[in-house]
Amino acid sequence: MTQSSATPDQVIQQLNWRYATKQFDPDRTLPDEIWSALEQSLVLAPSSFGLQPWKFFVVRNPALRQQLREHAWGQAQVTDASRLVVLAIKKDIGAPEVDQFVERMATVRQVPAETLEGYGDMVKKFLAAPPYPLTMDGWATRQVYIALGFLMYSAAMLEVDACPIEGFDAAKDRGLNKRVTMPDNKGIQ
Ligand SMILES: Cc1cc2nc3c(=O)[nH]c(=O)nc-3n(C[C@H](O)[C@H](O)[C@H](O)COP(=O)(O)O)c2cc1C
Repeated sequence: MTQSSATPDQVIQQLNWRYATKQFDPDRTLPDEIWSALEQSLVLAPSSFGLQPWKFFVVRNPALRQQLREHAWGQAQVTDASRLVVLAIKKDIGAPEVDQFVERMATVRQVPAETLEGYGDMVKKFLAAPPYPLTMDGWATRQVYIALGFLMYSAAMLEVDACPIEGFDAAKDRGLNKRVTMPDNKGIQ
């Protein structure tokens, strides 16, 4: 623990401060240094094996945000918040991604790639036959929720209003959706 760590009281105080914000002022923007810390909170989130089976999209284009809002039960947060982050999973993670990951690990740790071969093989084996009844997409989705938690927590610590949103239809554009009917945008989670 360093001197600059938050105290237990401060953590609880900030968590009490947090709430799922329904209305954002579209004219307010986050200062760059605050936004940068929030981005880092996503990058620094832990994941199984460190594989980071995710991709985060920061959607800036207002027209695109409007389109996304239409696929998110018309929720105003999608267009009005200073930042919109879409947390997505990487699909079809396999041996090539593991090789790339292990290579990067060797570079960062400044160790020969061969020393990490066993680790890479173990991860590949896991991905080929996960030891529990879960699809790889389901596995990756779990990881993404950890990143979401980090983002929400960090926003609370920095007193940044935030709202996690699961009320959207991810399959809309692919025509795979089952129709979700929400009366007048009410009854949202
Ligand atoms: C995974 C998840 C999905 C959520 N989806 C929505 C949503 O689509 N729209 C919304 O307004 N709130 C959404 N919420 C916020 C919850 O409704 C809110 O966190 C809950 O009612 C508790 O309120 P509080 O966060 O203000 O304490 C979501 C929360 C979580 C954790």
